[in-house]
This record gives sequence, structure tokens and C-alpha cells, in this order.
Amino acid sequence: MSQQPAVAVLGLGAMGHAFAANLLKKGFVVRGWNRTRAKGEDLVDAGLHLAANPREAVEGADVVIAMLADGETTRQTLREAAPALKQGATVCQMGTIGIAATDALIGDLAQSRPDVLFIDAPVSGTKAPAENAQILVLASGDRDRAQAAEQVFAAIGKGTQWLGEAGASSRMKLVVNSWLIGLMQSLAESTRLAAEFGFSTDDLWQVLDGGPLAAPYAKMKLGMIASGDYTPQMHLNWALKDARLALDAANEARLPALENIVDVWQQAVDAGYGEQDLAAVYQYLASQPR
Ligand SMILES: NC(=O)c1ccc[n+]([C@@H]2O[C@H](COP(=O)([O-])OP(=O)(O)OC[C@H]3O[C@@H](n4cnc5c(N)ncnc54)[C@H](OP(=O)(O)O)[C@@H]3O)[C@@H](O)[C@H]2O)c1
Repeated sequence: MSQQPAVAVLGLGAMGHAFAANLLKKGFVVRGWNRTRAKGEDLVDAGLHLAANPREAVEGADVVIAMLADGETTRQTLREAAPALKQGATVCQMGTIGIAATDALIGDLAQSRPDVLFIDAPVSGTKAPAENAQILVLASGDRDRAQAAEQVFAAIGKGTQWLGEAGASSRMKLVVNSWLIGLMQSLAESTRLAAEFGFSTDDLWQVLDGGPLAAPYAKMKLGMIASGDYTPQMHLNWALKDARLALDAANEARLPALENIVDVWQQAVDAGYGEQDLAAVYQYLASQPR
């Protein structure tokens, strides 16, 4: 397809809003839907057709992006939209919904709309990279039929990594997020220990900087800890969801640290930190002396 495909974005939260904004900037025709309509209203002037429901949003769209919180919401929304999907449309599921929900979604669509191409396409990268079209799309499914989806991925990200049959990328996404979650907890604990010894986040970063441990992700999260500004790039709630999805799918893989993190992060969510960035686990630990 040389012409730009028409795109529908279901879910205009932190990530979906950034996708829609980038597509509009690049001249795509974009339709969008969000449960809380107000989150899409700022894009209307830029050309977004803000639909009243998922069905209306997907009408005429060549590519449909689902970027919703979890598997249940995604399945329910796509079930509602399915009858209105354009013949032969491509549905790209880009949220982190785990393996069971992805498999169920593949089954739902195979039954209700066998003409539709399903691409499993979760993303690596958080809100700011999404706003700057710098995310990496982890794609799986029938790549030979996915030209329209690839045009869309090129507009919202810095690259696409194809991983095989649909479902493979949701598996890899859980691998990547279990790494990210472990890194965040380890950073929070190391920073707590540093504070206990009288070191600042800057002292810690100066030691890491330039060496193999100086992950840019750690630098960004240390910045949040230093400023105390936990405006969410990624909600702690969603990170906890991802840890659980990884544990649920782990089969024979033993992941004791991840199990402990789930316990601690659930306590942080219960203490009211769920809507903040996951770096707020530092704040939670600081509020709970040993
Ligand atoms: N932020 C990140 O760094 C990041 C990175 C990669 C992947 N992800 C994944 O991408 C997905 C979206 O993340 P996000 O950061 O964009 O989250 P977000 O800002 O919280 O947005 C969540 C979206 O899901 C919708 N939603 C939630 N519950 C719903 C329900 N019951 N019915 C209908 N819509 C519902 C929200 O609608 P309302 O606005 O009405 O609440 C919103 O559109 C999640 O699976 C997340 O794990 C996030």
C-alpha cells in the first residue's frame, strides 16, 4: 500500500494519545475513541475524528490500534468494534495484555472476523519516547500481509522488531518488562541504601556515569527520585499488572525476585501510589523504615 492507511486508535491514554498525535502530524487520517472523551479533545483541532464509541471509531479504518489498559478491556472493546471493522482491516494490539488475553483475542477475531489480520504489537518505550515517536514496536503475525501496519509503526516509532507468529511479541514484552521491573526495584533499594549512608542521587549517578552500569533508564528514574516528581511515564498500577502477567505465564521458570516485587508493589499500590510513576516505589520504601 503506497497511500497512507486510515487509522483508528482505541484508547487515548498516555500511549494511545501520543500515537494518535504523531499519526496526525504525519498526515494520516486518524479516528479515535476513549472511554473518557475529554482525553482526545485536544487532538480534534489537529484533525482527529473523535468517535462516540469503538464501533464508530473503526469504521473505514485500514489499521486499528488497540492501546488499552489490560486484556479484559481490550477484548471487550474489540468485541464491540468487530462488526464494524472494514473488510480485510488490520488490528494491531499494542497494549501489554499478556499471553492468555492475546491468545483469547486471536481466537475471538478468528471466530468473529476471519477476514481481519491480527498483529500482536506491544511496544518497548514509555510516554516520552512515545510522544517523540521513539518507541520500538515488537511485532508478530503475518508480516507478508502487514504493509499497512508497518507504515503506521514507522510513523509512531523508531523501529519494528518482528518476532514470528502472533503471540511471540507479547511473550517478549513480558521478558523486557520483567527486566525493567527488577531494575526499578533494585534502583529504588540502592538509592535508599545510599540515602541511609548520606549519599545523594547525584553522588550515586556520578559513580555509575560512564561505566557499564549507567543505564539511561536508571538516570531518568534517579531524576524522578531526586525531584520527587512522579508524574507517570508508566503507572505503578500497570507495572504491577505486567509483573503479574509475567508470573502467570512463567510456567517452569522460577522468578523469586519478581514474586517478592509483586508483594512489595501491591503494598505500595494499597498505600496509594498506583497512579504515580513506578519510580514512586522509592517513596513508598522511604515511608516504611525497616
Ligand atoms: N506508559 C508506558 O510506559 C507503557 C509502555 C508500554 C506499554 N504500556 C501499556 O500500554 C497500555 C496503555 O498504557 P498507558 O500508559 O497509555 O495507560 P493509561 O494512560 O492509563 O491509559 C489506559 C487506557 O485504557 C483505558 N481504559 C482503562 N480501563 C478501561 C475500561 N474499563 N474501559 C474502557 N477503557 C479503559 C483508559 O481510558 P480512560 O482514559 O477512560 O481511563 C485509557 O484509554 C497498558 O497495557 C500499558 O501496560 C504502557
